[in-house]
Amino acid sequence: MDKLVIEGGKPLSGTIVIQGAKNAALPILAASMLASGTSTIEHVPELLDISVMLSILRELGCQAEHKDGTVVVQTEKAHSPHVPEALMRQMRSSIFLMGPLLARFGEAKVYQPGGCAIGERKIDLHLQGLQALGAEIEEEGNVIICRAKELQGADIHLSFPSVGATENIMMAAVLAKGRTTISNAAREPEIQDLQNFLIQMGAKIIGAGTDTITIDGVEELSPCRYRVIPDRIVTGTMMVAAAVTRGNVTLLKTQPAHLTSLIHVMRRAGVQITIDDDIIMISNSGRPKALERVVTSPYPAFPTDLQSQLMVLLSLADGVSVLKETIFEGRFMHVGELTRMGADIRVDLNAAFIRGVKRLYGATVEATDLRAGAALVIAGLAANGRTIVEQVHHIDRGYDRIEETLSHLGASISRYSPVTNN
Ligand code: UD1
Repeated sequence: MDKLVIEGGKPLSGTIVIQGAKNAALPILAASMLASGTSTIEHVPELLDISVMLSILRELGCQAEHKDGTVVVQTEKAHSPHVPEALMRQMRSSIFLMGPLLARFGEAKVYQPGGCAIGERKIDLHLQGLQALGAEIEEEGNVIICRAKELQGADIHLSFPSVGATENIMMAAVLAKGRTTISNAAREPEIQDLQNFLIQMGAKIIGAGTDTITIDGVEELSPCRYRVIPDRIVTGTMMVAAAVTRGNVTLLKTQPAHLTSLIHVMRRAGVQITIDDDIIMISNSGRPKALERVVTSPYPAFPTDLQSQLMVLLSLADGVSVLKETIFEGRFMHVGELTRMGADIRVDLNAAFIRGVKRLYGATVEATDLRAGAALVIAGLAANGRTIVEQVHHIDRGYDRIEETLSHLGASISRYSPVTNN
């Protein structure tokens, strides 16, 4: 397994361009199955999760190529509604294939998905939504088979605004007969991006970004060309990295409107943030201020995917901060590792009480999931001495060569891969 070795203590400085959004690209790639023909998706990051999605599409009979940030998917020869179990286990987002396969083939055979071990991560809302559209669902062990001769529009109320369930239902409903409304829908920017892609394919759908999405089913969709939005979580990660190293960084091709909550929180902590159209500039020269209370919640509130990164900033703040996690129950796994680097954090149920320290110290730590791993890299950049981050494959699921991006900003960070003897 690869390791990252970081010599901490250098302020980041310089300019980078933000990669395309993984969480937008994944459902969009799954949705390309809804039309027969060649779709071209631009600004797709080179990540482990994306290559798993492309492998799944190939197993279903599509051709899929990823070159220079552009994916070309040819779906006309797609013949199988069966997502192989080994691929399904590698990535939770494989569940996104359920809606499109059901809409295209009238059948989908999938397995309980894998993914980051950050909580229970049920799929009951996905299944209830598809059932409401007329799918019959059989579950046997970890196999899930959905069948529907014809999908029928329905009024669906989500008991929680799940991002994945909202997207799965949208993808099934675009080819259903009649009107579907999803109320208490998730409002994340990635849902708006999926809506825009589906509209480009010929779907009739409005409301993404609000809590009610209305879809009028159409007979057929056409392949199209589309450009994915910038990754707001990668943007946020780099913003925090700049702040904790007391650096001066400019991020290009961002969507600042997608980061309102983080910008607000970081400004409250005393970090200087300047916005100019799609450019975000971050500079910080002193110790951050502690924050009384930050709570993760569905968009537009503070995102769970930036909780661990913000915790590094608060670990170095002047005073005691409280950070509450309400989305995933297992999302404090980085706390133990940060503590080993000198952070002073106590967890009580879903709240972390963080007493800021003046300094973090390098240590050997383990990335337990994608965003926890990113937080440890940020901590290593700010710490005195050498940090070794193990299990880097988790980080590779969401950050396109993170060591290259950070080296470009002046960080001392290198990747070490084990030598294999063939
Ligand atoms: C998506 C993001 C992930 C982010 C999360 C929350 C992608 C590929 N992943 O994940 O990075 O952390 O949104 O912003 O876009 N739930 C149920 N039943 C369901 C579905 C979800 O109980 O059927 C619960 C989950 O256990 C969790 C909460 O709802 O506690 C949020 O999950 P959801 O919004 O569905 O997240 P994902 O789509 O998995």
